[in-house]
Amino acid sequence: MSDSISDGIVKQNPTWLITGGAGFIGANFVKHILAHRTDVNVVVLDRLTYAGNLQSLVDELAQPCFEFVKGDINDADLVAKLFAQYDFTTVVNFAAESHVDRSILGPDEFIQTNVQGTLNMLQQSLKAWQDDFSGRLFLQISTDEVYGTLGLDDGPFTERHAFAPNSPYAASKASADHLVRAWHHTYGLPTVTTHCSNNYGPFQFPEKLIPLIIRNIIARKPLPIYGDGQQRRDWLHVSDHCAAIEFVIANGKLGESYCVGGNNECTNLTIVEQICQLMDKKLPSSDGVATDLIAYVKDRPGHDRRYAIDATKLKSLGWTPKQRFDSAIEQTVDWYLANQSWVEAITSGEYQQFYQRQYQHRLGEE
Ligand code: NAD
Ligand code: DAU
Repeated sequence: MSDSISDGIVKQNPTWLITGGAGFIGANFVKHILAHRTDVNVVVLDRLTYAGNLQSLVDELAQPCFEFVKGDINDADLVAKLFAQYDFTTVVNFAAESHVDRSILGPDEFIQTNVQGTLNMLQQSLKAWQDDFSGRLFLQISTDEVYGTLGLDDGPFTERHAFAPNSPYAASKASADHLVRAWHHTYGLPTVTTHCSNNYGPFQFPEKLIPLIIRNIIARKPLPIYGDGQQRRDWLHVSDHCAAIEFVIANGKLGESYCVGGNNECTNLTIVEQICQLMDKKLPSSDGVATDLIAYVKDRPGHDRRYAIDATKLKSLGWTPKQRFDSAIEQTVDWYLANQSWVEAITSGEYQQFYQRQYQHRLGEE
């Protein structure tokens, strides 16, 4: 008799449901888990929006213990069917609309996926697990943006910081986090929530600052800096975030939340200048140095000035970030230079329309 319920999925091993696993962090997390956990099956549920890309999972698609399902986290019937088929022990809910600028241009999709979709995932998990919660976990991947913004002299965010979301994106993530908290408190659903700072690394969609700047330098296009460029973010390499998520799955206390950060706070302008220097070294241009391309443009409405994370709570359990920013940003630049076809494949079509809408009036481009 075979142990398998579908090709590759081994029945006696626990199966994790990773929503949004074809996106930036989700795909890195799938790679991270499959690289060293032979005792876990992974099922990805992803709607493949503009940000989801199966090309990021080509190696994994060929692996045993991995299944990809194209679908929406709002689809109650589909999610119920997947729970019945795979008996998930762990749900990691990455699926989201994730870009602040898009949430300003059109918030509806953010409420639909980030709030309504999370509600559906909570309800389906509860339905599937309510007779026995033991060994189950619903992990909500949230963000530091739910805490709002910090002044220069303020201490960093901790788990005790009050929610004060400022963008439609942050408000949708905060709403979802409140639902997760309530589902634990009211129904006993075994949940944990993580609040991570800005990630960077391979497979990030080039609407986000770091890959956008690299791509524009390659194309010798203007490098849009919102406002004065003095906004501060705490940058964490995606591999450290993935390790933190795996660590939380193993060691997190149910009902708790954990801040995840890289202790690497710096201004947007500093980041852009550092990328410019690296690109000048790797891709010298007769047109001049990359910093010549910097263009100060109209600020993002409601732009949060500063995020910073105090990850003491998670570190005290034993997690610590391993990557050093200087070397990891260089590796990231190298990855984008070596994978321009990945970038070009996902930036055709819909992205061009977004780019025009977001930057045309800011940069005075055609
Ligand atoms: P991303 O935009 O790169 O990927 C999101 C993925 O979700 C895509 O594959 C998309 O197709 C999928 N998706 C969107 N709507 C869906 C739906 N309705 N049903 C199923 N799948 C859907 O995002 P990311 O940067 O990888 O972020 C992943 C998660 O991590 C998000 O929840 C985000 O809020 C959180 N987060 C991101 C960062 C960061 O710096 N990128 C930092 C902290 C937290
Ligand atoms: O802090 C975690 C969050 O980090 C995640 O929850 C979000 O999903 C993720 O998108 C990211 O949000 P940010 O808004 O901080 O990331 P973004 O890359 O869009 O912008 C980083 C900073 O750079 C921000 O201060 C805005 C600025 N920026 C961004 C773009 C795209 C520019 O100055 N110019 C740009 O063209």
